[in-house]
Amino acid sequence: MVATDCRLIILGPPGAGKGTQARLIAESLGVKHLDCGQVIRNEVSDETVFGKKAREHMVSGGLVPDELIIEMMLKRLSEQDCIGGFLLDGFPRTVKQARGLDGFLIDNGFRLDYIIYLGISEETAVSRLSARRYCPACGRVYNLQTMPPVVEGQCDCGGQLEQRPDDMPDTVLNRLRVYREETAPLIDYYSKSEGYMEFDGGKPGEEVTGDIVKSVLEGGRCDE
Ligand code: AP5
Repeated sequence: MVATDCRLIILGPPGAGKGTQARLIAESLGVKHLDCGQVIRNEVSDETVFGKKAREHMVSGGLVPDELIIEMMLKRLSEQDCIGGFLLDGFPRTVKQARGLDGFLIDNGFRLDYIIYLGISEETAVSRLSARRYCPACGRVYNLQTMPPVVEGQCDCGGQLEQRPDDMPDTVLNRLRVYREETAPLIDYYSKSEGYMEFDGGKPGEEVTGDIVKSVLEGGRCDE
C-alpha cells in the first residue's frame, strides 16, 4: 500500500466494476473507499430516517433525491477518515451532485485529482449483474461466472452470499435507463477536467486494476 493524499471518483454504468475496482485501488493508494450505494444500503437496513426516505427510490432502481444524497455524503466526507483522501464510488451521480462536491472541495481547499471512467456495454452489465452475489457480513462482491467464491454460496469470511434485490432483471433495465438519462451527462461535465481518464471495464479485473493504479501513480497528481 502507498499512502497518498489523493481524491478520486470512479464513474460508470451499473455493473462496470466500480465497487470491485474501487476497493482494490483505494487499498493500493491508502485512501478511504466510500461506496455511496453501500452507505445507503446500511442506512436502509438500520431503518434510519434517511434510510426510510431512500428505500423506495433504491428498490425501483431510481435515484435517491439529490438534496438527501448531497447532505449525507458531504457530512460523511467531513469525517476524520476522509481527511487524508478518498475514492468516491457512486457519488456524484448527477450534475447537481457534482456541483455539490465541487463546493465541498473548494470550501476545504482540496481538488479532485482523478476522475476514473469505466466503460462497459449494456449486454455485459446485464449479464454481470444477474450473476452478482454479495456478502452482507463484510460487503465483498463475487460473480458466479467470472469471480466465484471458493465455496459455493459462501464468502471467504464465512458469511452466506445473497443477491441484491435491485439486481433482478426489470430493475437492472431501469437502472441502466436512469444511468443513461441522469448519470451519463457527468462524462461531459468532467471529460475536459485535468485528471479525467477512461478505462475499458470489460477487460479482466486484474488488468483493469493494474491499468488504473499505474495511470494514477504515473500521473503525478497525488502527493506520496
Ligand atoms: P450502487 O450500489 O452504487 O449501484 P450501481 O452504480 O448501479 O453500481 P453497481 O454496484 O451495480 O455496480 P459496480 O459498477 O459497482 O459493479 P461491481 O464491482 O459490483 O447504487 C445502488 C442504488 O443506490 C442506485 O440505483 C440508487 O438507487 C442508489 N444510489 C447510489 N448512489 C446514489 C447517488 N449518488 N445518488 C442517488 N442515488 C444513489 O461488479 C458487478 C459484477 O461484475 C460483480 O459480480 C463483479 O464480481 C463482476 N465484475 C466486476 N469487474 C469485472 C471484470 N472486470 N470482469 C468480470 N467480472 C467483473
